[in-house]
Amino acid sequence: MQVWRSLNYVLTILLLFALLSCIHYRLSTNPNLMVEKSSPGWLSSERLGHHEEAQKLRSLLKKVARPDKVLVITTVNYAWAKPGSVLDLFLESFHVGKGTKRILNHLLIVAMDQKAYMRCKSIHPHCYFFDTPGIDFASEQQSTSPDYLKFMWRRVEFMQIVLELGYSFFFTDADVLWLKNPIPKFSSDSDFIIASDFQEGQPENQSNIANTGFIYVKSESYTIQFIKLWRLSRLLYPNENDSSVFEKMKQDPHADLILGVLYLNRAYFGAICQSSRDMGKLYIIHASCRSGVERKLHDLRLFLNDWKNYKRVSS
Ligand SMILES: *[C@@H]1O[C@H](CO)[C@@H](O)[C@H](O)[C@H]1NC(C)=O
Ligand SMILES: *[C@@H]1O[C@H](CO)[C@@H](O)[C@H](O)[C@H]1NC(C)=O
Repeated sequence: MQVWRSLNYVLTILLLFALLSCIHYRLSTNPNLMVEKSSPGWLSSERLGHHEEAQKLRSLLKKVARPDKVLVITTVNYAWAKPGSVLDLFLESFHVGKGTKRILNHLLIVAMDQKAYMRCKSIHPHCYFFDTPGIDFASEQQSTSPDYLKFMWRRVEFMQIVLELGYSFFFTDADVLWLKNPIPKFSSDSDFIIASDFQEGQPENQSNIANTGFIYVKSESYTIQFIKLWRLSRLLYPNENDSSVFEKMKQDPHADLILGVLYLNRAYFGAICQSSRDMGKLYIIHASCRSGVERKLHDLRLFLNDWKNYKRVSS
């Protein structure tokens, strides 16, 4: 944490200038980036001040977060939120996990489209509609489509907004099953923890590959700077997703910002496609290795059954 805390602001600012100088060019050549145009009705990280929407979100966060200002956040569109889809299995996991049921009180579901919001309100007490002007995210997104990239980056923007409002979070994809409560274990280890797809070595080894499907971030001024930098770095790689840009940031000269990041061990954060796993060690399991809603649902259902059997015999 020492290196992280002694974050080199001068270098960061210089880098920001360099990035900003690219913006004009990138915007004029890549229409995918045009989403960040302001309009009065919706929330963006640039206009938090006295924005009416920000006040609404602030009071919602206050209601949902634990007394230590930590909450769990997931984002869904309608393809994932509709009846029988990914969100239902996600919520079920909290009911069948060990000690995970009460986390539901601190779970904020962020709906990325109006239909997902309506569905969320019918099944969960804490829902927020994070509107994005000009885009309807409701239908299933292919991971290479421009709208999918906008969706992923809008999520990162939401992370920044929450941090700026003073709340720390566990940001989880909804194709993740929560089997045990990871909050006390992980939130004391570092201010920035991210899941990893190929975690081989030590949690602090930056050769680990980040998977943005599960992230813990503590609200601190340097973690906010980090998220801002991450979002700005996108301008250098306009066709890459958030995970991929995160990896790219490691190669940049300002990489000292990233040195405090810890990568979750595979044993705790499993992948649904792994052939062997120790159920006793798992906290979370992720279906990111399966693409498409149907394949995810199939594997998540199978796993939930395995888990229920495991729980029955082990308790
Ligand atoms: C970090 O991980 C890489 C790849 O697994 C390995 O080659 C390297 O030795 C590790 N570094 C440390 C300091 O453990
Ligand atoms: C992000 O992009 C990388 C590189 O293109 C790809 O390997 C990875 O699967 C993508 N992740 C997601 C969640 O789409």
